[in-house]
Formats: sequence, structure tokens, C-alpha cells
Amino acid sequence: MSLVSYDLHDGGVLLLTVNRADKLNALNAEVFAALDEALARAAADDFVRAVVVTGAGPKAFVAGADIAEFPSLSSAQGTDLSRRGQQVFDRIERLGKPVVAAVNGFALGGGCELALACHVRVASETARFGLPEVGLGLIPGYGGTQRLPRVVGRGRALEMILSAEMVSAQRAYEIGLVNRVATPEALLADATALARTMAAKSPTALRLAIHAVLDSDAPLEDGLAREANLFGEAMGSADAKEGTTAFLEKRAPAFTGQ
Ligand code: COA
Repeated sequence: MSLVSYDLHDGGVLLLTVNRADKLNALNAEVFAALDEALARAAADDFVRAVVVTGAGPKAFVAGADIAEFPSLSSAQGTDLSRRGQQVFDRIERLGKPVVAAVNGFALGGGCELALACHVRVASETARFGLPEVGLGLIPGYGGTQRLPRVVGRGRALEMILSAEMVSAQRAYEIGLVNRVATPEALLADATALARTMAAKSPTALRLAIHAVLDSDAPLEDGLAREANLFGEAMGSADAKEGTTAFLEKRAPAFTGQ
């Protein structure tokens, strides 16, 4: 079985599953390569309108980077490893299509960072989140020090990073780390339904909206200028003509992504 399975479902929803359950889906070089390849394929595949990312097995989403690879690494190799992880997770964030994490269990270290790179997070009641790196003599290196504060605020991010304590799905919901919580049985269906709702919208508008929001850390003036440009780009698209005309004609739009 592939380390990252690629299953296209109805409504243009692609399910990507990290398949390394015997090691709690820990991210080694092979998993990163498989994930990178699956993301490149998803980006190029016009049938894919939204993506759900999950982990195989009942126990873990992803329990982090593969610690077995770490003890022999030099400082320079550590920097390279961090850059590689960041690059793959950036690809998720910049995919141009909505990506929903369906967090089915432990989301630790790189697993928490993987979930953070997704646009929206749905967690099982049994999920647990944490950045345990400082307990290993390391720091989060796949975007955690940057994305976690942007999602939950600096104080809560520092609490999680410095204590290395895990938080429950309920707590993750309370601090805004996850968007929704589902029972373990309903998790995949709920995450897929949310992705399908997104997948039914204009692909062009989704891409532009993601772009606009991802750059919202810029100074307000710059962000507003970019928003106006992206809004104009959306307005000039065939999808906008279709969406607005369909509304006025009281029919469902048929978006083409043009
Ligand atoms: N890297 C490499 N292997 C990992 C791993 C990781 N991040 N997380 C789990 N595994 C492996 C275990 O070594 C074990 O392998 P084995 O069966 O060959 O011994 C297998 O996955 C099952 O994990 P185990 O620890 O036995 O499960 P558990 O239920 O007792 O504990 C965790 C679950 C998640 C609490 C525990 O596995 C853990 O703390 N993992 C590391 C989390 C971490 O620090 N991640 C950040 C890395 S930077």
C-alpha cells in the first residue's frame, strides 16, 4: 500500500491518508516524498476541488516526525530537514484548493504542524494535539512556531510549545486550534461533507480567497490593496459571470474554474 493513499470521492473531494499506522504515521523521508507527490498530483488534477487529509488507523493522525531519523543528524542536516518539511507543508497551504484536516488521533509535533498547514481542522473527540519537541531537545521545525501563534495567539502557542503538554480535542476547540469536533465514527463523514460543501463553490474564487486570507498578516493597507486586486481578478472570471447570473436566474451555478 502507498504511504499516502489517493482516493477521489464524489463531489471532487480527494481523501489523502497517511499510511504508516504501525509507527503512528510518523513522517519519515519516504512519507514526505509520497505526500509531496500526492499534493503535486492533486494540484494538477482538475477533478480535485477540495482535499481531506487524515491518518490511517484508530490511534494517530500523525505522531510527528520520525524520531528514529534524528539522533545522527548534524545541525546543517537539521536545517535541511526543517526546510524540507516546511516546503511540503507550504505546498498544502498554497495548494489553491481547500484542505481539511480530519484529525483522528494523536497530532503531535509534525502531525500538529501538518494539521496547522491545512486550512480547516476537524478533530475526533479522541484526538490529542501537542508540540513535544522541547522534551526531545528540539523545537518545532515544520512551521509550528509560526503557524500555531497565528491560529491560537502567541500566549497559547508559547504555553503549548514550552510545556510540551498535549491538549484534548475539546480544549483545542476552545482555543481555536480546531474548527469542529466530531465523534470518532462521524469524523471522516463530517470532514468530507465540509470539504464537499467547499468543493461545490467556484474553484477560482476558492483559490483567490485562500490567497487573500493567507496574506492577511501583512499590514492592513497592503492586505486591503491585495484584496482589491484579487476581488477584481475574481470579478473578471467566467465563474463570477456564471455565479452571479445563476443567482439572478434562480438556478444552481455550474462552475468551470475559469
Ligand atoms: N517517530 C518514530 N516512531 C514513532 C513516533 C515518532 N514520532 N511516534 C510513535 N512511534 C512508534 C513507536 O516507536 C512505536 O514503534 P515500535 O512498535 O516499533 O516500538 C509505535 O510507533 C507505537 O508507538 P508507542 O509509543 O508504542 O504507542 P503509545 O500508545 O505507547 O504512545 C505516543 C503513543 C504518541 C504518546 C508516543 O508514541 C509518542 O510519544 N510518540 C512520539 C511523539 C513525539 O514526540 N512527536 C514529535 C516528534 S518531533
